[in-house]
Amino acid sequence: MNRLAFIIIATVMAGFSAGAASAADAAAGQAKAQMCVACHGADGNSTNAGFPSLAGQVPGYIAGQLGAFKSGKRVNPVMQGMAQLSPTDMADIDAWYASQVITPRSIDEDQLALAREGETLYRAGTAELAIPACMACHGPAGRGMPSSYPRVAGQWPEYLESQLLAFKSGDRVGKIMGPIAHRLSTQQIHALSLYMSALQ
Ligand code: HEC
Ligand code: HEC
Repeated sequence: MNRLAFIIIATVMAGFSAGAASAADAAAGQAKAQMCVACHGADGNSTNAGFPSLAGQVPGYIAGQLGAFKSGKRVNPVMQGMAQLSPTDMADIDAWYASQVITPRSIDEDQLALAREGETLYRAGTAELAIPACMACHGPAGRGMPSSYPRVAGQWPEYLESQLLAFKSGDRVGKIMGPIAHRLSTQQIHALSLYMSALQ
């Protein structure tokens, strides 16, 4: 085997074993997440619409976002400060939140018409606007798919809306979500956010 090939294989294997060893420790993650409790809640159910819930998120997504905050790829001054963690800490914290259960939300009677508008887009997209069905990636029940398609079910509608608007403006960079959000109107974003939050 030539030297270059050997270095590449060794690097890939080191990456695998680091991931496998660190991904499993949810109990360690709970201890490491103590500094997150004030904003994201003791079990990852946040009690403030300004802070996303993290409970029940798909494994791998939280670690990925912490990496993006740390590097500045996803811009948020508070979270950039909080994300100065090692890859092992990120993986443990990820495992802790993934093992928690998000509290379901319901929709008020007077918001049902708006939610139905969101439902149509979420389940079928629209051909005229070339918007794909959200459920293709976020799942029919909004539970996401490991590791990069996040859960949206049970999330604060205000947070979902803020993120779709950030993808639309480009403030949050998203190779997939950027072009999708760009084609959504603010009214469609409002309806979708309400609908997704109430999925279970
Ligand atoms: C002072 C409040 C505060 C603290 C403490 C805090 N966060 Fe956050 N967190 C936020 C805010 C605000 C956002 C939304 C950022 C945005 O709009 O992009 C956020 C977003 C996140 C996200 C993205 C969620 C998603 O669905 O994309 C993750 C993951 C996260 N925080 C993890 C953590 C972890 C882990 C800790 C502890 C190490 C922590 N946060 C501590 C306020 C906080
Ligand atoms: C082809 C797959 C795909 C489709 C279709 C898709 N998404 Fe996404 N979505 C993603 C990915 C990947 C991310 C994570 C982006 C990142 O890592 O920053 C995401 C992130 C999001 C987030 C942010 C969640 C959070 O916790 O921060 C929201 C909200 C969202 N999508 C809503 C939608 C809506 C509404 C639709 C339909 C109009 C949709 N998505 C269609 C792949 C998709």
